[in-house]
Amino acid sequence: MPRLSVNIDHIATIRQARKGSEPDPVAAGVLAELAGADGIIVHLREDRRHIQDRDLRLLRQTVRTKLNLEMAATGEMQRIALDVRPDIVTLVPEKREELTTEGGLEVFARVEVLKEYIGRLQNAGIPVSLFIDPDEQQISAAKKTGAAWVEIHTGAYANASIEKERNTEFGKIVESAKLAASLGLRVGAGHGLNYVNVKAVAGIREIEELNIGHSIISRAALAGMDRAVRDMIELVGS
Ligand code: PXP
Repeated sequence: MPRLSVNIDHIATIRQARKGSEPDPVAAGVLAELAGADGIIVHLREDRRHIQDRDLRLLRQTVRTKLNLEMAATGEMQRIALDVRPDIVTLVPEKREELTTEGGLEVFARVEVLKEYIGRLQNAGIPVSLFIDPDEQQISAAKKTGAAWVEIHTGAYANASIEKERNTEFGKIVESAKLAASLGLRVGAGHGLNYVNVKAVAGIREIEELNIGHSIISRAALAGMDRAVRDMIELVGS
């Protein structure tokens, strides 16, 4: 059974809607760990649209399991990672206009540049994972960069609306996981996984870890609605 790391970016998204102080992703990280999460993930974006530098620094002090920093391969982010020292860095592509990370990182065409970038982090004791599409060429290139991990992008599988397409995409994830493991890479997977589609991916033996955010935060909001309204009625009525 793979481990579960929880992406708490969307707790910060709700906070940033008012640019206030709640809900605090640091508190969400603590609660996720108390519920059994094996890791906490945050994506510090260049535009700081959700997670802020302050969140990352406090999470570094409070996370007891494994803090995974998702980031673009830029100079600014490398400096932050070397300073804050998360337990692992996941390199992701980043476009300002996107709603979420859309595709995997282009590794094949950038092996040398990434090798140097990753080397600087890993020499400082921070393992690096590359978020890539389930594609043989990208997996083999990931190995050449020296990265310790790959995270297989499950978005195409999760978004497939017809069964045939879903099966095809699932097959790519299985083959990619097998190839990565055979090359000595450690394997994670994530993006778009939810309470309906996660089971099949969780059954792939080579996948050690699943990284899930949106569906968990969505369920947390609805599962907590009853309690939150009752708490307010009690206050209003007293
Ligand atoms: N893995 C990576 C690299 C991501 O960028 C994201 C989204 O932030 C996830 C996993 C989680 O995806 P989701 O929020 O759809 O579960």
